[in-house]
Amino acid sequence: MNISKLSIVILFITLVLISCTKDERSTDQVAQKVSRLMAKMTQEEKIGQLNLRGTSSRVKGALPPALKQAVKDGKIGAFLNVMNKTFVAELQKIAIEESPNGIPLIFSRDVIHGFKTIFPIPLGIAASWDMNVAENSSRVAAIEASSYGIRWTFAPMLDIARDSRWGRIAESPGEDPFLASQLAKAYVKGFQGDSLSDPTSLIACAKHFIGYGAAIGGRDYNTAIINKELLQNIYLPPFKAAIDAGAQTVMTAFNEMNGIPASGDKKLLTSILRKQLGFDGFVVSDWNSVTEMIPHGFAENEKHAAEIALNAGLDMEMTSASYENHIKELIIEGKVTSEQLDFLVANILRVKFRMNLFENPFVSKEQTGNLYASNHMALAKEAAIKSTVLLKNNNNILPLNKTTRVAMIGPLANKPREQLGTWSFDGDKTHTVTPLNAFTNEQRSFSFVEGLSYSRDKTTKNFKKAIASAKKSDVVLFFGGEEAILSGEAHSRANISLPGSQELLIKELAKTGKPIVLIIMAGRPISLLNIIDDVDAVIMAWHPGTMGGPALHDIIYGISEPEGRLPVTWVKTAGQLPLFYNHKNTGRPAKPTEFVHLDSIPIGAWQSSLGNTSHYLDAGYTPHFPFGYGLGYTKFEYSDLKVSSNKLTKEGKLRVSVTIKNIGDRTGVDLVQLYVQDLVGSITRPVKELKGFQKISLKPGTQSEVEFTISKEELKYYNSDLTNDLEPGKFNIWVGSHSNSGLKSSFIYE
Ligand code: NOJ
Repeated sequence: MNISKLSIVILFITLVLISCTKDERSTDQVAQKVSRLMAKMTQEEKIGQLNLRGTSSRVKGALPPALKQAVKDGKIGAFLNVMNKTFVAELQKIAIEESPNGIPLIFSRDVIHGFKTIFPIPLGIAASWDMNVAENSSRVAAIEASSYGIRWTFAPMLDIARDSRWGRIAESPGEDPFLASQLAKAYVKGFQGDSLSDPTSLIACAKHFIGYGAAIGGRDYNTAIINKELLQNIYLPPFKAAIDAGAQTVMTAFNEMNGIPASGDKKLLTSILRKQLGFDGFVVSDWNSVTEMIPHGFAENEKHAAEIALNAGLDMEMTSASYENHIKELIIEGKVTSEQLDFLVANILRVKFRMNLFENPFVSKEQTGNLYASNHMALAKEAAIKSTVLLKNNNNILPLNKTTRVAMIGPLANKPREQLGTWSFDGDKTHTVTPLNAFTNEQRSFSFVEGLSYSRDKTTKNFKKAIASAKKSDVVLFFGGEEAILSGEAHSRANISLPGSQELLIKELAKTGKPIVLIIMAGRPISLLNIIDDVDAVIMAWHPGTMGGPALHDIIYGISEPEGRLPVTWVKTAGQLPLFYNHKNTGRPAKPTEFVHLDSIPIGAWQSSLGNTSHYLDAGYTPHFPFGYGLGYTKFEYSDLKVSSNKLTKEGKLRVSVTIKNIGDRTGVDLVQLYVQDLVGSITRPVKELKGFQKISLKPGTQSEVEFTISKEELKYYNSDLTNDLEPGKFNIWVGSHSNSGLKSSFIYE
């Protein structure tokens, strides 16, 4: 090779190396910074980095000297719930200027569905099936919260929830791993923004790792039993998606899974989280979840709990102080190695460097957060509109026309705090626009009688007034549901129907003969079994947030379309739970022809296996409304399902298309959903699995073709060997407007 050729080759190799190593170099730079810093740190200071303190949230007046001293001594790595900007600045200043190595603190908070401007609860956001809604809402939350110095949120919650009794279903992405994974990406992008070093970036926390939503009986904190395949195929995918999207932290769950509490599960936190999912941020415990391994019966005492969690790979301890109290001793006794301590500390420092906290630890004066800015409020309204699900609309009673005389009744028509829902600590209710406010602002013709003063109100004393106002109107809008406190952490319910005397009042109102529109604000699907026939329309608004009132106003009058679709199966009664669309078939799947209702069994019938299929004699086997369900104000017709081939190969792709026509007389939005069934597997496969969805807006009389692409990538699953692969065989495919509808076709995977 002559010299000029050689120099070209060298130049080329150099260019390739430069372009390939750009990112790795920055990772290397962070790693170098971490190790340089760690070389200067004492063991005490390292231990300090693992401490997440929550005590100062209740501090009034001035910061306690002991707390300031602890920061000065480098004994605290991060804080949660310091909601006073001056305290944040003061503590950070001490950490930077007075602690041994000037390591900045991270301030954290549960910024779940908004900070000041509150968006619909996460289950509502999931019902929008709109990733812009998820991303925009979390971006707004980040912009607002970061102005208080908060740079870490304990969100998104990614627990698959198959049981509406569980109070935290409100905070979940629903029951489906595919939808939850899309949401996970969007939330992480929204919270973290384009760069972790941006002062408005909040590092995200994928929680709760793992199986928290699988609490037996839907009772919060309860045991979860999840087999390996289920873990891989159902519970892990949203966490994988969040980590792939760059989530910097993961929170361990309170619960045990298969006998091991998550905070002490080494396999989970090493083989699965770090190795399989490639997570390189840091793991935080949940509130006291390290020391709760004692009542779990997994640790003998606080010291033992610390030992287990440290060795399992849990980096930062939230609120309890077992690490602080025992690491030194555990290292001296050889129960924890100093290498393990270094590993945990490095995980935390890596994230602090990535956040650029060393260079830019303070909130600048210009960073106001634009709290409740008009664009934030507009996005909150849009999110509430897109989250709202219309479940029933007999005789197209909705939308109302302008001249309809409305009787607004019900305990949630004007509850500014309640409509914000669970986890909305920072939302100021004086900014909330309730339905009553919205109807007043828009000068609608309506009367208002609350009837019940809160959702659990058991009285009947105001029924008369409510009935009288119904009689004078053309339609009743009943705003019912649950107060915010009835869902969320530790707020599971065994009975999920409307609480208090709401059902009774609805029944009394129905006697007037006036049509009733039930608008539900709640943190979970509500059992409507007792009242569904008394109402003409049902709108599920979830807890819709600050702008819930205007959103509902616009939907009720048809200014906007209810675009939401159910992200969870809506049961008839709690006795059916857990019920989810992607269940297994069983050897005796339920069939309409086999089902015998309890009332049809002859009196004195001899013992027999009635119907011989998997159902309840009273509640049957179908939900009230299936996953993916929701009505709009127009109708769509699906036709011409085409699959590009009846064979899918390893490297191949199938194009699946369908024609959708708006056959109604209004422009409308539909959510086109693609489901697949793998008929035979080395482990049994779900009867249906969501594999794609697209929103489409069509003018009346127009049609459009919607196309999906599927390949092995979307279909593979963790099989009986726990390999992520696809086995040859037949697949069914449906495209429709919910999980129990659609045009059907099939193909073979070879
Ligand atoms: C307990 C909850 O389980 C968790 O989700 C939350 O982030 C922490 N408390 C901190 O408030």
